[in-house]
Amino acid sequence: MIARTLLSSPRTLAAVIVSAGLLSASAALAQAPALDVPYVPTPEAVVDRMLELADVKPTDYVVDLGSGDGRMPIRAAQKYGARGLGVDLNPERVKEAVANAQAAGVSDKVEFRVGDLYETPLDERVDVMTMYLLTRVNADLRPRILNGLKPGTRVVSHAFNMGDWTPDRAEKVEGRDVYFWIVPAKVDGRWQMKAGNDEILLDLTQQFQRVQGVARINGRYHTIQAATLRGEEISFSVEPREGPVRRFNGRVKGGAIEGTSPDGTPWSARRAAAS
Ligand SMILES: C[S@@+](CC[C@H](N)C(=O)[O-])C[C@H]1O[C@@H](n2cnc3c(N)ncnc32)[C@H](O)[C@@H]1O
Repeated sequence: MIARTLLSSPRTLAAVIVSAGLLSASAALAQAPALDVPYVPTPEAVVDRMLELADVKPTDYVVDLGSGDGRMPIRAAQKYGARGLGVDLNPERVKEAVANAQAAGVSDKVEFRVGDLYETPLDERVDVMTMYLLTRVNADLRPRILNGLKPGTRVVSHAFNMGDWTPDRAEKVEGRDVYFWIVPAKVDGRWQMKAGNDEILLDLTQQFQRVQGVARINGRYHTIQAATLRGEEISFSVEPREGPVRRFNGRVKGGAIEGTSPDGTPWSARRAAAS
């Protein structure tokens, strides 16, 4: 937050202005919002690809943090009929976005607010979140994305990644990097599973969407294989040396997982009480 730090220290700012001989600009600067990211619009082709990667649907609510001229939510409304919200700290940008939404005929679908992305609620209402910010801002937002957004929320970022949270997809569009993630459910920990007549103790460890684990069945331990976690959809195999491979596909709902094996056997799991 270089700009914030600068503006929160008026003496430093004054010194910079005086030494640069920019006294006449001081009034304008005092009014200017302290942006964490400068305004640079995403090219239209990149906007289109980001929305495609997010698989935007008419029922989706698309939030663009640092929305600039509003192109991301406006396009999502125009092309997919999605509802949207854009938040930008700069009132000039918000004015432009409101006018652009009107011109595009989607004012009933999208809303633009003057606001700080650091204070914008990130919660279960959001289906798709788009960003063209900076690595540092993405890093600041990451815990709120992982803990505030619901599992399955699609997140797309132009140019900047999210550190060691590997994207589910990454591509180049017209020379620009685009990253796509699906917010993973929280599965780390111990689960008590019932599958047919078997009581299984499942210990999972999770790093973002990567899952590993061990299943204890009838006193025997099996490392789970081919585990995937996509939003709230989890899938893994148990491959006993004796007996057939068993695949488990399920959906995580808070402290429960419900699923069906490929042979049609239902299974379920509950978080085990902490011992
Ligand atoms: C790189 S532009 C991206 C604009 C738009 N999302 C796009 O992709 O075309 C970043 C935007 O973030 C806004 N911004 C910077 N700091 C902000 C903050 N703390 N809260 C909200 N918006 C901010 C800027 O005004 C600018 O419009």
